[in-house]
Amino acid sequence: MKGKISPIEFSNNKLILIDQRKLFETEEYFVCDSIESVYFAIKDMVVRGAPAIGVAAGYGMYIKALSLNIPDINDFRLEMKKAGEYLNSARPTAVNLSYAIKRMISVVNEEWLDIRMLKNTLYKQAIAIHNEDIHANKMIGENMLSLLGDSKSVLTVCNAGILATTAYGTATSVMYLAKEQGKELSVYACETRPRLQGARLTSYELSRNGIDVTVITDGMVAHLMSKKMVDAVITGCDRVASNGDTANKIGTKNISIIAKRYGIPMYIACPISTIDMDIKDGSEIIIEERDPSEVTHIRGVQIIPSGVKVFNPSFDVTDHEDITAIVTEKGIAYPPYDVTLKILYA
Ligand code: MRU
Repeated sequence: MKGKISPIEFSNNKLILIDQRKLFETEEYFVCDSIESVYFAIKDMVVRGAPAIGVAAGYGMYIKALSLNIPDINDFRLEMKKAGEYLNSARPTAVNLSYAIKRMISVVNEEWLDIRMLKNTLYKQAIAIHNEDIHANKMIGENMLSLLGDSKSVLTVCNAGILATTAYGTATSVMYLAKEQGKELSVYACETRPRLQGARLTSYELSRNGIDVTVITDGMVAHLMSKKMVDAVITGCDRVASNGDTANKIGTKNISIIAKRYGIPMYIACPISTIDMDIKDGSEIIIEERDPSEVTHIRGVQIIPSGVKVFNPSFDVTDHEDITAIVTEKGIAYPPYDVTLKILYA
């Protein structure tokens, strides 16, 4: 792959993140050497995308463990538990954050005679979460390719790409794979107001890797679909409920409804770690509301009169009935999702 992007690295006990707030104009790195800096990076969206914040949280928990000089294992566990709750509060919607933290805490809760060995095992767990993400994305791409048939053009929203994961992306994995295999596939990327992840990030990483990408504004989706310009929709997601209801970037629900109207398949790409079998349906997913300034301003320029009210939910929930298939590294789930997700998850 040309123009390799390395969104997350861990080196010398520091987490090094490409600063996604500054892309595409500037490629700067943000270094985290404390759990507070990891919390900030997740909250302020230096790092973003469900799998990427999970991987960052794994390293964040390890950084916290390294900073603790507590001989008593129970006191150590208590501090790590508090750290996990703190980190988990950075963003509420993507389940990958709590998934990674739970995995780190499960190591802490094992029987340990030596805290040094416990810290080493935490390091291995953080690396495992990272490596599993890379593998999962690759497999998602392969499984998705089997669904696309002779589709020539797909539409995506937000950025479920390399930047939102650690390699390949979830929704974009199939785009990179198609390119590798010489298959003709072009991509429409919705700009994704208010944070413009599609315009700034998806266009950046796809074009850099030689993929044919066209940015559209979010309001153009129905027009394109009515003109038969889109063969399939592929999006990532932040949390899938056990009935298949799926939270993803605000605007995904609109796209799913329009796609159904025009008979266009709606595919969700996600690792198993994004499925939350503990919740019955999408009504249980907490939707993050972000600062109004994301709506009132675009890149520092005020576009709405001062004092006017705005509403800024960051995600919405796509109804399971509007989803054609959910594609994971372990296989493809089709309706009825309350049955098929259970089988994949097992
Ligand atoms: O607010 P963001 O940019 O973190 O939202 C990201 C998304 O909605 C992605 O589509 C989702 O996390 C999947 S990333 C593989």
